[in-house]
Amino acid sequence: MDPLTASAEIDLDAFAANVDTLRAHVHPAAMMIVVKAEGYGHGLLPIAAAARERGIEWLGAATPAEALALREGGDTGRVLTWLYGPDTDLTPLVAADIDVSAQSEEQIARLVAAAGTVERVARVHLKVDTGLSRNGATVDDWPRVCAAAVEAEETGAVEVVGVWSHFAASDEPGHPSVAAQLQVFRAACEVAEEIGVRPRVRHLANSAAALLLPEAHFDLVRVGIAAYGVEPAPGLATLAGIQLQPVMRLRAQLANVKQIAAGTGVSYGHTWVADRATTVGLVPLGYADGVPRHASDLASVGLDGRRVPVRGRICMDQFVVELGPESTAKVGDEVVLFGSGSGGEPTAQDWAAVCDTIGYEIVTRIGARVPRVYVARVDVEGVG
Ligand SMILES: Cc1ncc(COP(=O)(O)O)c(C=O)c1O
Repeated sequence: MDPLTASAEIDLDAFAANVDTLRAHVHPAAMMIVVKAEGYGHGLLPIAAAARERGIEWLGAATPAEALALREGGDTGRVLTWLYGPDTDLTPLVAADIDVSAQSEEQIARLVAAAGTVERVARVHLKVDTGLSRNGATVDDWPRVCAAAVEAEETGAVEVVGVWSHFAASDEPGHPSVAAQLQVFRAACEVAEEIGVRPRVRHLANSAAALLLPEAHFDLVRVGIAAYGVEPAPGLATLAGIQLQPVMRLRAQLANVKQIAAGTGVSYGHTWVADRATTVGLVPLGYADGVPRHASDLASVGLDGRRVPVRGRICMDQFVVELGPESTAKVGDEVVLFGSGSGGEPTAQDWAAVCDTIGYEIVTRIGARVPRVYVARVDVEGVG
């Protein structure tokens, strides 16, 4: 798509400011920036470069492919990856000096084999399930996993760099699982220590815990959504006493403007019928670009400092907004689907609210067809 027609502007200065603010907030813990899912939709390599430029030592990638893409893009710093299948070849990860999560004796054995193949030490973070019930060794299996890791370390095949886990509900202050998971994590760290595990970093906190739970910071926090200027849940940054700046601004030019008579149906299914003569505008972005169809007839967009409502169904490539009977808007005028809100436009959180979802989903789903346009006052190497 032509970037003048529609684009997601990525404000790397806002990203850098969020990184600085969050890092000061979690000090003395270190901070990993989570760049999975194309940097939460903001672009993997530019975001990684901007994070490194701010002095971030750790990047987090869910999948091995994402971690290897960082290396292919020239990133040489610490990268952790944690989600892979039984047939994933771990050898390229060890060869590329990428830290890999392991939760079982079987996974440790695969890392030992990979280390042998490439004659390199495999860097491992042992994951314990403290209550999310996704990945991670159960508390019952944990001592065996730690023992296997220590044994592998003694052969020189692996280095246990980290012990880690992940929260289920840190974005709901006071949720009983938070205290319970903290307790299980502390106990698991003690068990690991007794067995001989000496991790350089223990890490548990995501954005919400980084914001609100200093007791969960340990040595390293893993921050994703907050670095992109979206709160994990509405109000959490304010509660932590910090201000975040939304990094993504999704905008487009009106591709068409027309007057319609009262009684005219708009878009597929005619779910909206004009009750007056009015003017409508066509926005050239749709659900194939990640604009949620659930926002049909519910969301609004910013136009010249005011908000105009989405009318009718959001289609694959486009949707219609009502500009109003007196509108002087014309083809080419800019509408802002979401941004910082400072120009009167909605935020990603506003779209999330009308779709009954979370801001994470709004920004990460903006599709590959939408050009990312990087805006930065400071020159970030590798970003143009
Ligand atoms: C294991 C892990 N750590 C950290 C994060 C970052 O979470 P958030 O975006 O809430 O900071 C994620 C993302 O969901 C994750 O999967």
